Amino acid sequence: MKPALLKTPKTTGKKPKHDLLREFLNAMWLRPEAALFLAISAHVLHTAPYRPSRKPSLDLGAGNGLFSFLAAGGSLTPDYDYYTHAGHLDKFWKHADIYDHFAGQGQSRFIARMPDDRFTYAYDHKENLKKQADLLNFYDAYGVGDANKRWPYPDGELQSVFSNIFYWLDNPRFLFPELARVLAPRGKAFLALQDPSFPKFCPSYQTGKFPKYADVLKLLNRGRADSSLWRLSLKELEALGKKNGLKLVYHRRYLTDMVLKIWDIGLRPFSPVLIRMANSLSAQDRLQCKKEWVDICVNLLRPIYESEKDVTNQGGYLYLIFEKQ
Ligand SMILES: C[S@@+](CC[C@H](N)C(=O)[O-])C[C@H]1O[C@@H](n2cnc3c(N)ncnc32)[C@H](O)[C@@H]1O
Repeated sequence: MKPALLKTPKTTGKKPKHDLLREFLNAMWLRPEAALFLAISAHVLHTAPYRPSRKPSLDLGAGNGLFSFLAAGGSLTPDYDYYTHAGHLDKFWKHADIYDHFAGQGQSRFIARMPDDRFTYAYDHKENLKKQADLLNFYDAYGVGDANKRWPYPDGELQSVFSNIFYWLDNPRFLFPELARVLAPRGKAFLALQDPSFPKFCPSYQTGKFPKYADVLKLLNRGRADSSLWRLSLKELEALGKKNGLKLVYHRRYLTDMVLKIWDIGLRPFSPVLIRMANSLSAQDRLQCKKEWVDICVNLLRPIYESEKDVTNQGGYLYLIFEKQ
C-alpha cells in the first residue's frame, strides 16, 4: 500500500511552563547526558499538537515513571536522589540494569509538584520499577507483564497510548495491530522511536566503521545496541499504521547529531563509581555537591538544549502521533 504524502511537521510553538532541563538534571544528576536527552524528549511531547492526556491512558514500558512524571509537568525537590535506588553496582560491566532494584525507602515526600495529568495505566515487565513508580503516585494502575504478548486491556478502551519502548520490543507487526486493538475510535498513539539513521549519530553503535576502537566502543555502548531490536523509516511506519487503521497525524525528528554524540559518550562508564562515591557522603554533603554539580551542568548544557530542542528536520529519533480511524 502506498503511504500518503507526509506533511511538514508543525510544533505548537507553546513553551513548557517548567524548566525541563533543570528538572531532569535534578532527577538524574550523575548522568547529565541522559538528562539532556530526556529533557529534549519531554520538550518534544510538550510542543506537539496533542498530548497523551485523554483518559483512559496507558504508558507502555513506563519504567519507574520518572520520565512521564517530569514530562507531564511534575517536579521533585533538590534532595530527591534517584541513585539511592541503584543496586548491583558490581555487575555494571556485566551489563546488569543497575536501576532494576528497589531500596525500599519512601520517597513520596520529594514530590514538589504533581503533574497536571496522571496516566490511568502503566505497563512494564520489571517489578522493581513498578515499586519505584508507586512512590510517584502517578499511575492509577500499574500492570507487570511482557509487552511482547497480548496487552491486558480490552478492545477499544483507551484514548491515549504513549510508548518510548516500541523498538525494545520484538515485532512491530505485532505491536501496531495491538495498538489499534486497544485504542478507541479517534484515540491516539504517541510513539518515540529510533530512526534508521540513529546509529550514524552514535559512534558506539558503529564498531564496524571504527575497527581500531571496536573494543572501546563496545565498552562505551554497554550492550545498548542489543536492546534496539528494529528501526523502520518514517514512510514504512506511516504505511504500517495505515494498514492497521492508524492515521499518522503528526511527526517530527529530534535528538540531533550534537545531542546524540554527547549522550553516546557521557558519564555512563563512571556510573558505578560515581554512585558509590555519592552514597558514601553524608546527606548534607551530598546535597551540597549535587547542587553545585547541577548548576554546572545546567550552565554547560543550556545552550545546547536551547539550540537543539526545536530542530525537527534532522535527528536520530522520530516522534509520531497516530489516530485510530
Ligand atoms: C529505556 S526504558 C524506558 C522507561 C520509561 N518509559 C522512561 O522513559 O524512562 C525501557 C523500559 O522498557 C521496559 N521493557 C523492556 N522490554 C519490555 C517488555 N518485553 N515488556 C514490558 N516492558 C519492557 C523496561 O523494563 C524499561 O522500563
